[in-house]
Amino acid sequence: MKALTWQGLEKVEVKSVPDPAIQQPTDAIVRVTSTAICGSDLHLYGVLAPYLHPDDVLGHEFMGIVEEVGSAVENLKPGDRVVVPFTISCGHCFACSKGLYSQCDTTRDHEQDNGAALFGYTSLYGRVPGGQAELVRVPHADFGPVKLPHELPDERFLYLSDILPTAWQGVEWAATPDGGTLAVLGLGPVGQLAIRSAHRQGVQRILAVDLVDERLALARASGAETVDVRDVDDVAQALRDLTDGHGPESVVDAVGMEAHGNPVAEKVIGATTRLPKPLARKAIETVGIDRLDALHTAIDAVQRGGTVSLSGVYGGMASPMPLMQMFDKGITMRMGQCHVQQWTDGLLAVALEDDDPMGLETLATHHVPLDEAADAYRMFQKKDDGCIKVVLKP
Ligand SMILES: NC(=O)c1ccc[n+]([C@@H]2O[C@H](COP(=O)([O-])OP(=O)(O)OC[C@H]3O[C@@H](n4cnc5c(N)ncnc54)[C@H](O)[C@@H]3O)[C@@H](O)[C@H]2O)c1
Ligand SMILES: [Zn+2]
Ligand SMILES: [Zn+2]
Repeated sequence: MKALTWQGLEKVEVKSVPDPAIQQPTDAIVRVTSTAICGSDLHLYGVLAPYLHPDDVLGHEFMGIVEEVGSAVENLKPGDRVVVPFTISCGHCFACSKGLYSQCDTTRDHEQDNGAALFGYTSLYGRVPGGQAELVRVPHADFGPVKLPHELPDERFLYLSDILPTAWQGVEWAATPDGGTLAVLGLGPVGQLAIRSAHRQGVQRILAVDLVDERLALARASGAETVDVRDVDDVAQALRDLTDGHGPESVVDAVGMEAHGNPVAEKVIGATTRLPKPLARKAIETVGIDRLDALHTAIDAVQRGGTVSLSGVYGGMASPMPLMQMFDKGITMRMGQCHVQQWTDGLLAVALEDDDPMGLETLATHHVPLDEAADAYRMFQKKDDGCIKVVLKP
């Protein structure tokens, strides 16, 4: 089959690789009909390169048709249409029984002491080949895949794999009080769906921050007031100015470790990822790789006693944090990979609503054949051609 493989720093290639096969009775094989590129894939493409190996198959947002099931999978049959959560969870361990699916004790790598295995996240999260491919082996298919009706286009459901529950959880965890203001930093696909989730959750005032014209415009079209990073000296101050000097009660950081805004950090990180792998890994683990611009803005901007919710992924072990400010302001922080299945039932119902109230069908700006995935990664990373979300069609 064909699959998108990692080949080197900012180098991916669609190649022929062996077809996956059932390995465990709880596996299924899914033939992929749509698979998206995520901001998280960009971390693997760039800054996390020292953890990858040539021919790693990427991709964790995918849906398709069940081709084959293992003997213990009773809930699915060949021909079923499914979307697959990016976190691989067993559904019955200590963590899963508390609903903490992204901490699944069965699939997580105990040796590395990491959270649940993730599709297409290479040696960092369980070495499970990803979904930017014609076929995928889905472990724990007796629990993970979400069965879908055969009507409606793929784009209605595809984002249930990751960015819709991620955005929804980010907003829930930001816990904006009644009548309060939520700031969303970063207006990529996650930030856009965070704004739409916030409306759905009853948040009345949303301030949205980015530095890309079409992303700002799309946020405005969803009813947010925008702050353009390029127009202000100090984003946190701009957010305070818009909230009577107090700052928003809640902030979602939907940017993550590759934030723009600190040219020195960008150079250091760029140099780190080009070191020989063991040295680069050591540097990442001991020096910190994160560009913390958005996170520090969130902490600075949030109202005293408010909440910062991180949807954006951070990865450095020693990234400096303004603990004095965090403690003094008495802020609450929540973060982590999304517990996808906690939100699936509610969000599937939203996706099925007649008028597509979250605009899922129209979020993707680019639909391209899997063969063109390498160009699509470049375009999404550079935000060329108005690119906001790419859906690949194997
Ligand atoms: N927690 C989870 O389970 C989970 C799941 C999916 C994605 N994510 C993470 O969410 C983040 C966003 O994902 P995405 O697909 O929307 O990615 P994206 O790269 O398209 O979006 C990031 C946006 O942030 C903007 N940005 C950069 N620096 C900024 C700054 N200093 N201030 C404000 N905006 C800035 C960029 O212009 C871009 O529009 C990524 O870090 C991704 O890894 C987390
Ligand atoms: Zn994703
Ligand atoms: Zn589990």
